[in-house]
This record gives sequence, structure tokens and C-alpha cells, in this order.
Amino acid sequence: MSDYLNIALPKGRLGEKAYALLKNAGYDCPAMDNPGRKLIFENPEKKVRYFWVKPSDVAIYVERGAADLGIVGKDILLEYQPQVYELLDLGIGKCHMAVAGKRDFRESVGKTLKVATKFPNIARTYYNAKCRDIDIIHLNGSIELAPILGLSHVIVDIVETGSTLKENDLCVFEKFLPISARLIANTAGFQFKNDRIQAITQGLRAQAEGNL
Ligand code: PRP
Repeated sequence: MSDYLNIALPKGRLGEKAYALLKNAGYDCPAMDNPGRKLIFENPEKKVRYFWVKPSDVAIYVERGAADLGIVGKDILLEYQPQVYELLDLGIGKCHMAVAGKRDFRESVGKTLKVATKFPNIARTYYNAKCRDIDIIHLNGSIELAPILGLSHVIVDIVETGSTLKENDLCVFEKFLPISARLIANTAGFQFKNDRIQAITQGLRAQAEGNL
């Protein structure tokens, strides 16, 4: 197990893009071309092992050493503050953290603001800096529903193309944090497998620079 480089990829579009960069860097894994329902793939020749995990779980695998490397959004790193090394901004998965809500919402300053979000720590930090009294409503998805149904006044969420907001008749009030995908490493693995990790980082760096 240990002579392999274990890499956690986020399931979905970002993971596909990240794997394309790894493939270009020479770390392909032909078994991934016909994945079926398998979650783990090896290339014995390159000594790499990839596994697909929920995007918000990537940092947990890396922090605890089940993966040496991972690809994760900066949003997850800011929200959960895992003890990992952040090696590289890959310049993919670019989006923003934003405050959004119904077009006709007018904030009353004296009233506690109800904020629905998947990112309570990011939201709290943002509003603390404004000394704004808020009530966080922690949801796990489809955040846009909250202001529509009166569960919250606003949302703090990721905006990429803006189409989810637009199609639900919501608008951005403020974009406050640019987000992109990062290459992260387990702190112990970074020492033990340093040569291989440096080589893979180098192979990604040139491509990342083109994306930044
Ligand atoms: C994210 C985010 C928004 C949407 C933004 O949700 O929470 O809902 O993407 O993207 P857009 O600006 O390109 O429309 P995700 O797809 O992760 O699903 P979720 O609502 O289940 O969290």
C-alpha cells in the first residue's frame, strides 16, 4: 500500500477536470476510463491509486493520511480548516462565495439577519467582520430554497455561473471570496513521499499557471 501515491479526487465535474490535469502530467490511470460503480483505481506501473470521494470529504481523507494528496475547493479548506499542506492553486473550479437573496429583500439593520448556508464558519467570519448580528441556518444543499420559502433572509453560498440564482429569481448582493481548487497533501506523507509529491506538483504547476 505505502509505495503507492494515494490521491483523493472530488466526485463530479471538478474531479474530472483535476484528473485531466493529472493525466497530462503523466499520472494517467487507464482503469478510470471505464469506471462503472468502482470507487478506487490503480495504475501499478505509475504506482498511483485514485479514489473518488464526496468533495467535502477530500480534506478528511488527506488530513488523516488515508490519502497522500487530494484536490479540494478553497471553500472547504476555509470552512473546515483541516491540518494539511496546501501545495498549489490549480486555477480550476473558479467561483465566488457570495451573499444572495430575493431581489426585493431590504435589510433592516437593527434586526438579526437570518442566513442559510452550507458554510457556517465562512458566513460567521464574514458577518463578524461587519459586526452584524446573524442567525445561521445550517443546510446541506439546495440553499437557494431558503429565502424563497422564508426560512432565511439571505444565503451565503457558492456562485459559479450564476444560473442557479437566476433560474430561482434570486440575485447576488455581494461577492466576497474568490474560490478555486487546491492541491493538498498529508503532512506526514509530504515528508515520507516528498520526491514523488514534488514531481507531481511540478507536473501540475505548469498547467495551473496557464489557468490562473
Ligand atoms: C452549488 C452551489 C449553488 C450552485 C452554484 O451547488 O451551492 O447551488 O452550485 O452554481 P451556479 O452558479 O453555476 O449555478 P451544488 O451543485 O454543489 O449542489 P447542492 O445545492 O446540492 O449543494
